Amino acid sequence: MKEQLGKIKAEALAEIGNAEQSNTLNDIRIKFLGKKGVLTAILRGMGDLAPEERPVIGEIVNQVRQSIEKALDDRGLTLAAREQQVKLAQETLDIFLPGRSPRMGHAHPLQLVLEEIEDIFLGMGFTIAEGPEVEQDYYNFEALNLPKDHPARDMHDSLYITPEVLLRTHTSPVQIRTMERMHPNPIRIIAPGRVYRRDALDASHSPMFLQLEGLLVDKGVTFGDLKGVLTLFAKKFYGEDRQIRMRPSFFPFTEPSAEVDVSCGCLGKGCRVCKGTGWIEILGAGSVNPIVLKMAGYDPEEVSGFAFGMGIERIAMRKYDINDIRVFYENDQRFLNQF
Ligand code: DAH
Repeated sequence: MKEQLGKIKAEALAEIGNAEQSNTLNDIRIKFLGKKGVLTAILRGMGDLAPEERPVIGEIVNQVRQSIEKALDDRGLTLAAREQQVKLAQETLDIFLPGRSPRMGHAHPLQLVLEEIEDIFLGMGFTIAEGPEVEQDYYNFEALNLPKDHPARDMHDSLYITPEVLLRTHTSPVQIRTMERMHPNPIRIIAPGRVYRRDALDASHSPMFLQLEGLLVDKGVTFGDLKGVLTLFAKKFYGEDRQIRMRPSFFPFTEPSAEVDVSCGCLGKGCRVCKGTGWIEILGAGSVNPIVLKMAGYDPEEVSGFAFGMGIERIAMRKYDINDIRVFYENDQRFLNQF
């Protein structure tokens, strides 16, 4: 029995020495000292021993128990210290780590396109003019040769505030306001801004969008000057290899009027953007109608002019290959962060 106890002790101490984690020690404690443990089994068997042997063996069992307990405690302290070290090392704060940099905002894609277009015209000597978004019927329609009963008013589904006041349906009223302010001096302005129409929001329509208007009035201005300015714009914005073409059209405030296309980057080979035609419509333009000049205070015998108007969203959509106008207004970071 003594021998057996010696073996138990040696076995226990060896296991304790090999234990690498505090919870392993718990298992060892149960295995040797628990109620169903090895040592307890020996104590139970003591009844079979001769009476004089019992105290001797009892003493040895106690010693073995004490040695095992001490070994468990010592090893427990060592392991706990080691585990603490590891934990501290893991949780160390590196105060020299660089901080998280704040997220920077950046320009909206419509703003980028608008600025690019503005820069081109500023480079040609145009200046920027502005007008109100809540506009009088007179400037939005009447003075642009769209009298109240004019059928062309049907082209605009307007948002009226009162019978005489509405959200401007285009940037063309800035032409009139600028002429009233400037006459009889020459004019060379662009007017970017928001415009409003009574359209439901879908992939290609928005009740609010951006336009950029152009107006040049001076002595001897010709349709050829308009073509020159727009050709230069197209080459600067789309690329030197581009051309424009003008198709006859009608706007009440210009005479003659044109719809202007830029040649497509596919060079007529046919692509999704130009739908195989080789041309992309970019704006409306024309010579300022003498009726409009006269109403705004200029003498059409003395001066002439040209005007043009373009939709910024459509230009931006083609530039960045965007097929849904709504993404411009939703402010989804996943979209905006791409610019
Ligand atoms: N105002 C027109 C529209 O909203 C666009 C336009 C066409 C403007 C021809 C012009 C122009 O200045 O000459 O559809």
